[in-house]
Amino acid sequence: MGAKSLALSFSVQAECNVSRARAGLMKLPHYEIKTPVFMPVGTQGTMKGLLPDQLETLDCEIILGNTYHLGNRPGTEVLEKAGGLHNFMGWNRGLLTDSGGFQMVSLLKLAEITEEGVKFKSPYDDSEIMLTPEKSIEIQNCIGADIIMQLDDVVQTTFQDYDRIKEATERTSRWLDRCLKAHKRPTEQSIFPIVQGLLNKDLREQSAKDHMTKNVNGFAIGGLSGGEAKDDFWPMVSLGTGILDKNKPRYLMGVGLAIDLVVCVALGIDMFDCVFPTRTARFGCALINKGQLNLKQKQYETDLNPIDNDCSCSTCKNYTRAYLHCIVTLETVACHLISVHNIAFQMRLMRTMREHIEKGTFPQFVKKFVNELYSDGN
Ligand code: GUN
Ligand code: ZN
Repeated sequence: MGAKSLALSFSVQAECNVSRARAGLMKLPHYEIKTPVFMPVGTQGTMKGLLPDQLETLDCEIILGNTYHLGNRPGTEVLEKAGGLHNFMGWNRGLLTDSGGFQMVSLLKLAEITEEGVKFKSPYDDSEIMLTPEKSIEIQNCIGADIIMQLDDVVQTTFQDYDRIKEATERTSRWLDRCLKAHKRPTEQSIFPIVQGLLNKDLREQSAKDHMTKNVNGFAIGGLSGGEAKDDFWPMVSLGTGILDKNKPRYLMGVGLAIDLVVCVALGIDMFDCVFPTRTARFGCALINKGQLNLKQKQYETDLNPIDNDCSCSTCKNYTRAYLHCIVTLETVACHLISVHNIAFQMRLMRTMREHIEKGTFPQFVKKFVNELYSDGN
């Protein structure tokens, strides 16, 4: 089973028989991606603390870039001249760009949304910028990522006003049509629609069903993981994967905590992205199976173990917790070393899940993972 187009083909290679988990192969113009996959985020066309060849060493197959930032700097002219972001940043594997509006609404809180698009004040100067669906696709066509995202109308996850959530959900469907119409490189880049509807079951169902009527190569689920309870978040993922085409990749946006990766793979998600592993590294936190180590804590001052004895990343091979504790206030070096480990952790978790799905032992893996995460160390 699978879906084929020039810009993306996807085939399910193995399925779990008690959950919706699946292992797949996604062929993109620049690279062949094994799913489920985690995509580290590189906002300015570079990973904070990591270089493209280090990401390759870490077995990273696809990364995420941000349209709005890249459209501003280096800007479309330079990107066009360089032959796209792949060439510009020296990355020749998979690349996905987000559409830009979400970052404005969620991070800057400077945005005003109308039917035309997302209006916001430039963070670089005082000018006003209007990001329309057409403009977002124009920039993303220029960046040249393998997968590009529709512009969506995003409301804060904890927002309760039904009329506003309904408006945003329906507008997202209208904007999808405008994005598909504006897309100039459909044989090289796939647009993914984004399911919205926040925590409203009916709106989410309608959104997923609307998107299912479109001729697209994959789907995303957005508007989640903004601080809502797991009991609210996970059922919305399940609702989405219950409706979206089984033969196409499904991408859950902005999710990267290990427990969410495991649960949402079980719910049928194939792709994830999150700033969490690199952001938490900048605060001195290293990811391990039992959660996180905050290397700033005094208890690591004399601890000559690596972050994780079972990790084969260059940080764990060469450095101790005591050393990292010692340099953790020298931001850049420590951030870099911990980021390497944290990305290695995410990649290993995804690879482990894929292997268990292929071997038919995914349920046993989930049990063991949850036990280890929530045990008290005994
Ligand atoms: N990143 C995390 N969540 C979202 C979302 O709902 N929409 C977009 N465009 N990006 C996201
Ligand atoms: Zn490591």
